[in-house]
Order: sequence, then structure tokens, then C-alpha cells
Amino acid sequence: MTYYYRLGEIPPKRHTQFRQPDGSLYHEELVSSLGFSGIYSNIYHKVPPTKVKGIKASIPYGYKILEGYGLKMTHLKTADVEFTGDDYLSARLPLMVNSQCIISLCYPKQLQMEDYFKNADGDEMIYVYEGKGEMHTQFGVVPFQKGDYIVVPRTTIYKMEFDQDSTQKFLIVESKMPIETVGRYRNELGQLLEHSPYCERDLHPPVRLSDLDMTASEYSMKIKKGAELHHYIYGNSPFDIVGWDGFLYPYTFSIYDFEPITGRLHQPPPVHQTFQARGAFVVCSFVPRLFDYHPLSIPAPYNHSNIDSDEVLFYTEGNFMSRKGIAQGAFTLHPGGIPHGPHPGTMEKSIGKKGTEEYAVMVDTFAPLYITEQAKAFLDEEYPFSWQ
Ligand SMILES: [Fe+2]
Repeated sequence: MTYYYRLGEIPPKRHTQFRQPDGSLYHEELVSSLGFSGIYSNIYHKVPPTKVKGIKASIPYGYKILEGYGLKMTHLKTADVEFTGDDYLSARLPLMVNSQCIISLCYPKQLQMEDYFKNADGDEMIYVYEGKGEMHTQFGVVPFQKGDYIVVPRTTIYKMEFDQDSTQKFLIVESKMPIETVGRYRNELGQLLEHSPYCERDLHPPVRLSDLDMTASEYSMKIKKGAELHHYIYGNSPFDIVGWDGFLYPYTFSIYDFEPITGRLHQPPPVHQTFQARGAFVVCSFVPRLFDYHPLSIPAPYNHSNIDSDEVLFYTEGNFMSRKGIAQGAFTLHPGGIPHGPHPGTMEKSIGKKGTEEYAVMVDTFAPLYITEQAKAFLDEEYPFSWQ
């Protein structure tokens, strides 16, 4: 749930005659979520979006679960990964998965995407660990930079244009359920409330319509559905849009705009919550903040039995106060069923500290996560015993 927005030209009333300069009709497309019950937008095309020129063979695009991994506290040593592939699509490296979500790294080498892409399986949350560029979509251009979460509703057609001088490193969470702002921070009409750690001004919709490559004779689009990429060819640009309006569109939110909530005693992870995917997972942002100010407070967290969730942390900047030996760019997974807690010595060490400069992105899932075969190369076999 975002807010109402419009770009370009639209007719005064929906579903009415809206004509191009040559007198022909524009082609209205309703992009609706949850059937007709969720948020939606109306887009106006120069050419019908149904006009397909060709369909090529589908390409396998899945993951394999690592069999027999068992129940373990997990550390994935992904800090030194430079690239995970060449193209933005081939570079996706799924590491942890369940029936609701896929958590991947995507560190592409190429600065241009070969194809247009749409994910028909789910919404995407793309966290920009490093990088800068513009995401071109049918809703317009979404500029992004380090620290941005790019929230992309399913079936948004996009093509990334990366900055020539930057390295591109993304954490991607693909979600079966829509990725939304946090429900308890919204009033009954959807506006973010005063106690929310961010507000509408921090959510950035597309800035202008895209004019990317309008004169090609063919446009190649890869559509992810199931464990395959389906390869469609169109004869006109998917960004032939004259205008649109609605609530459904891609947007960015910067982790640097998250205003931390602090207290006299240790605040629980929900104060860091940034997004929700109902019934599936929450996303939290750990950001620099003042520590707890009760005279006897312990800033490091208590031991925690997460009895019905799996907790993933991706460490993005600074030194995480409760962990030892975890580098920036690495993951930990603390699965439900076994307690986790601060590493030996970190509780005492945290006492008296005034604040932290750490950044981390947390994804807590309500269904157990499975490690993939692709993740096997990064497993730290000693991590489960690192509290000894
Ligand atoms: Fe926890």
C-alpha cells in the first residue's frame, strides 16, 4: 500500500475514450492486485499490451534445496563475493527459500540488462547494498542508489540501467504475498501515522515516464513464472505509455531515511520493521541509533527463542554489536526451534555504550527457510558452535 500517484496524460474519467494525436484510441490496461480487491493502476498504451510477436523456448530458472542440511544456526560467508553472474537475470543466486519467498543475492557484472524482465511469481524487494542507476518500468523511471529498498509489484516490466562507475550488489527478496508498508503504522484510510518510523515523503515513486529505446524493431522480454523464464518477443516498446494513475507502482525507500525508535530498555525487533508480506515475512532495518538509556540497561539483545519464525540478517554496514566474526555482506540465519543470542562477551561489552553505527536488513519468515545447494559453498560449518 503506497498512495495515489499519477504521471503523464490520462483522461478525466476511467474507461472512456482517450485519443492519440492521429485520432485513434489509446489502449487502457488495468493492472490489479489480489484479483480486483487489492491496489491497482490504470495505464494508457499507444499499442495494445497484448500484441505478441513471438514466443521462444522457456528457460529453466529455479533453485535446488540442499538435502539433509538439518536444523542449524547458519552463517553464510558471502562477504567476499564480487560477482554472482554476468547479466542481472543470470546473476540471481537463491540462498534461502520457502514456499512464500526466495532470498537471493544478485551481483551482476554487466552494466546493462540484456532483456526486459517481469516477475509474474511475486513482488520483489531489491535492497541496493551497493550501486546506483535507474530502473526503467512501464510506470516510469525509478532512480536508485546505495541503501535503497526498491519495491516492485509483480508483473512490473523493468530494465535496469546501471551507473558506469559503480559496482552493483543487490539483496533480492521475492514474495508470493504483496510487499507492503507496515499495517500498524497506517490509519484506516491508509495514511502513515505519526508514530511510523517513515512517512509518505520517504517513499519515492517513478520520477518521469521512460523513453528508453523506443525505435527498436524487437523487444525481448523474460517473464518469470514457476521455475522458468518465459521468453516473449514484442514488436513495440513495453514502455509506450502516455500516462497512468493509481496506487500500484514501483517505489524506493532509503534505509538512511528510517527513523529509529529507541527506549530506556532494549527495544524488540518490531520497532525496526519496514515492510510486511502478510502471513509470510517481515523486513526490518537496523540503523544507527542511540542505545537504551536506563541506568542498568544492557544494549545487546537477550537470548531469544523464536518459536515460530526463522530470522535472517544481512549485515550491510558497520559492526553488528551482538555478533563476532560476521563480516559486512554476510548472512546469518537463526531458525525457529533453537534459541539464539549475543556472542560470548558482547553483552558485557555493550554496557555503557551510547549508540551504534550498524546497518543490517532482517527478513523474518513465518515458514521455515531451506538452504539451497547454491548456498552450500558459503556455509560456515563452525558457526553453530561459536557460542562455546
Ligand atoms: Fe531474534
